[in-house]
Amino acid sequence: MPPQKRNSGDVKDPGLAAKGKTRIEWSQQWMPVLQLIRKRFSKERPLEGVRISACLHVTTETANLAITLRDGGADVVLCASNPLSTQDDVAASLVKDHKIPTYAIKGEDKTTYYSHIVSALDHKPQITMDDGADLVTTILTKRQELFPAVMGGTEETTTGVIRLRSMAKDGVLKYPIIAVNDADTKHFFDNRYGTGQSTIDGIIRATNLLFAGLHVVVCGYGWCGRGVAMRAKGLGADVIITEVNPTRALEAVMDGFRVMPLAQAAKTGDVFITVTGNKSVIAAEHFRAMKDAAVVANSGHFNVEIDLACLEQLAVAKRQTRDFVDEYTLRDGRKIYVLGEGRLINLAAAEGHPAVVMDMSFADQALSVEHLVKSAKNLEPKVYPVPAEIDHTVARLKLQSLGITIDHLTREQETYLASWSEGT
Ligand SMILES: NC(=O)c1ccc[n+]([C@@H]2O[C@H](COP(=O)([O-])OP(=O)(O)OC[C@H]3O[C@@H](n4cnc5c(N)ncnc54)[C@H](O)[C@@H]3O)[C@@H](O)[C@H]2O)c1
Repeated sequence: MPPQKRNSGDVKDPGLAAKGKTRIEWSQQWMPVLQLIRKRFSKERPLEGVRISACLHVTTETANLAITLRDGGADVVLCASNPLSTQDDVAASLVKDHKIPTYAIKGEDKTTYYSHIVSALDHKPQITMDDGADLVTTILTKRQELFPAVMGGTEETTTGVIRLRSMAKDGVLKYPIIAVNDADTKHFFDNRYGTGQSTIDGIIRATNLLFAGLHVVVCGYGWCGRGVAMRAKGLGADVIITEVNPTRALEAVMDGFRVMPLAQAAKTGDVFITVTGNKSVIAAEHFRAMKDAAVVANSGHFNVEIDLACLEQLAVAKRQTRDFVDEYTLRDGRKIYVLGEGRLINLAAAEGHPAVVMDMSFADQALSVEHLVKSAKNLEPKVYPVPAEIDHTVARLKLQSLGITIDHLTREQETYLASWSEGT
């Protein structure tokens, strides 16, 4: 790659920068916690000279995180964590206005997607910041020479944390990772309210369907599934949950949803949404049972939740009918509509999570990076939780920014709660 390209990144159209700049500013005003951290970072420069490669969804919110890290002294480069999630205007502005090399083009093919990851790794990171563990996986499989320089990394999403835990278990993880996803101030809000709202937003933007009266099948009642189900119900849909975990299935029942196997739900559903982090959740037997004009979408991390290879085999024709809507015609004439090529629909057809929740997730990210810079030398190559102190700080600052105060324990209550002998 010529040096100029390496310095400037690789974006769709630098001419989009002006639009990206104002949209980044729009998000900034909804991210007060991150802005407080940015202000402190600008003064204290805790990340001075630290090389960070970040593989995240390139959105307005991510831009604000990258700017915060840069203002903390870090030398940041960014690449996309999904071929369809990049906002091209934001990528252009990051390069032009913020001088943050960014390698991301919406709709990039697989080869370009991985070449962008390689470009981000050419930065020789001391810290990796992943959303789905692609940087760590690429270092492990193709760029092992980079390991000695890396002090640590962070991981943004459930699927990435699962992958990294499995690497740690197999003894192949070579440096400590902070599981940002597992912070309470991340998954309680981002996965539930962020994915919940933006998944419905993506489906509506792609299809213009009316949710009221629809039979909506949500596969997976985890953090994201709870949010999607809650918001679909709020719009008047009849929501059916499918699960493999008995406790979560029970929770869905007590939250007022019908729960049944997908083979059964397949006959009733108008819209199917997968949020499991698992593969081939919607497969041949389900496509065979679906009604004409069933709509299928995924909001889980990878595009493997809907078995598209199998749908291709079942179909006799395929065409694009709207942006992000592919129509598959089956042999018996039924049509099945797949949204956003089975990639996370909230980022493919909408804008991902609103800035208000990303404020907390990215505050956790920024503070976790600071923690790694201070403490990585004392950590082992394992997956670590976000320190409780960071989680509490982010919650406290977010409440403060909302103008909400809460009660505090009295000394007597603290003693009572810490004691095993009182209250008998
Ligand atoms: N779209 C986004 O912006 C976004 C945001 C956050 C997380 N994610 C991704 O969404 C996925 C889910 O995340 P989460 O935090 O809700 O995870 P989670 O572990 O809390 O929930 C996943 C649920 O799916 C269930 N499940 C697994 N296999 C299933 C199957 N075959 N059928 C039905 N249910 C099944 C599990 O039992 C679990 O309850 C992950 O891939 C995560 O990385 C996406």
